[in-house]
Amino acid sequence: MTDRVKIFDTTLRDGEQSPGCSMTREEKVRVARALAELSVDIIEAGFPAASPGDFESVAAVAREVRGAVVCALARCTRADIDAAWGAIREAERPRLHVFLATSAIHREHKLKMAREEIVRLAAEGVRYARSLCEDVEFSPEDASRTEPEFLTEVVQAAVDAGATTINVPDTVGYTTPQEFHETFTHLKRHVRGIESVTLSVHCHDDLGMAVANSLAAVRAGARQVECTINGIGERAGNCSMEEIVMALKVREGAFGATTGIRAERLYPTCRLVSTITGMPIPRNKAITGENAFAHESGIHQHGMLRHAETYEIMRPQDVGLSRSHLVLGKHSGRHAFRERVRELGFELDEGEFNVVFARFKALADCKKELFDGDIEALVLDVEGGSAGPWSLARLATTAVTGEPARAEVELVHGDGRRLKLAASGDGPVDAALKAIEQALGLPLRLRKFEVRSVSEGEDAQGEALVTVECEGRTYRGGSVSTNIVESGARAFLDVVNRIETARQSARRPQAAAG
Ligand code: KIV
Ligand code: ZN
Repeated sequence: MTDRVKIFDTTLRDGEQSPGCSMTREEKVRVARALAELSVDIIEAGFPAASPGDFESVAAVAREVRGAVVCALARCTRADIDAAWGAIREAERPRLHVFLATSAIHREHKLKMAREEIVRLAAEGVRYARSLCEDVEFSPEDASRTEPEFLTEVVQAAVDAGATTINVPDTVGYTTPQEFHETFTHLKRHVRGIESVTLSVHCHDDLGMAVANSLAAVRAGARQVECTINGIGERAGNCSMEEIVMALKVREGAFGATTGIRAERLYPTCRLVSTITGMPIPRNKAITGENAFAHESGIHQHGMLRHAETYEIMRPQDVGLSRSHLVLGKHSGRHAFRERVRELGFELDEGEFNVVFARFKALADCKKELFDGDIEALVLDVEGGSAGPWSLARLATTAVTGEPARAEVELVHGDGRRLKLAASGDGPVDAALKAIEQALGLPLRLRKFEVRSVSEGEDAQGEALVTVECEGRTYRGGSVSTNIVESGARAFLDVVNRIETARQSARRPQAAAG
């Protein structure tokens, strides 16, 4: 019989902790809606005690998302738990997630606490959380490096105190599939009452084994997997949702378990998160990378033509990659365009559709043929853009061989302010970025500038992704245009808008918790 594994998405909490992946409140709500559409069981929306901005984002997700459980993280302290509960109490189905480190290294060096104190605090935290919320998850942080008998003792205390889910994290990505299988088997054998709670697994990818370790836990009885879209997360990231979901779907027989995820929505969701975070999906990424379904060698192509299953264990359309050779152009109407947008897995409301359609018409005027990549980029530019206060009203560049390039920019703020500045630089992109930087007077340091083509042909659109440092924080931004200097300038402005939003949310007073 096939069991159901719950998918607990922590893109908005653990994923967002990844350097440069921070999202604004509006972006988090957009991602949370996409996760609900994907049918994830639980959305971990953030860590409300961490900052006023986090509190507000979690509260916004809790108010707006329906269907999925909305979860907030807290340490085992009353103040944290009150803040978490204050943020999610309006959710249709709230969950409190409390955690406390248990390994010797964390006890000695981070917490400076003895074992007995850890057991007491874990039980008190869970009991207090249960007094507020019926659905309470407990995580012994760094469980995989905790002495098995002590892990059993802490988990027993959490179960006795009323935890409804016990999550076992491999916080530093250290365990192996066999070892983690034993950890889960040990807990199932030694914790009284464990059969009435959901066992959950949470893996990091430091040794590239997050998905394999999570699958081993599922084989040992875990019925909740914690994961993130595109595997984003602390350091090397978390278990990737698209990979674990497809492993459980394609190899259902091997694991005896599957998920309730609408797999055909995986690719659009991964693209949305990639655009919002400015973290490109690597070309060779399993499931969603550009090469995941590409067959280059003659032998493979021959086999594929005879029978697709010779070299394909799943079809691109199973994960929402419904690529077609249907090309749209300036004579394509609203209906054809809307159909294509839907086939690519995007749901737009009427207002968004009108904006994207107007941009499609403008692009079709200067580009003969529009491919799926172009349409996807247009939709994501509207859905995933920072929609911040600054926009580019005019950009003019000149570049003559052997001479510094020059750029003139005109920026408009939502409140009507206009700024004009000219600068020279090492090439037109550099000149344009310098002009924007000087016009706004921000201490920006450009760390990375990447351009890739989103479709085919000489007139293909270029997607620019920039990584910038400002006052000790890393920001990423992106934009698309047929003119790569313009997409670079717009990507830079995307970053500027993110910085402005982050500054505004830091200035906002702390929302009342509890
Ligand atoms: O990696 C970890 O231990 C965590 C816990 C807070 C669950 O993210
Ligand atoms: Zn984690």
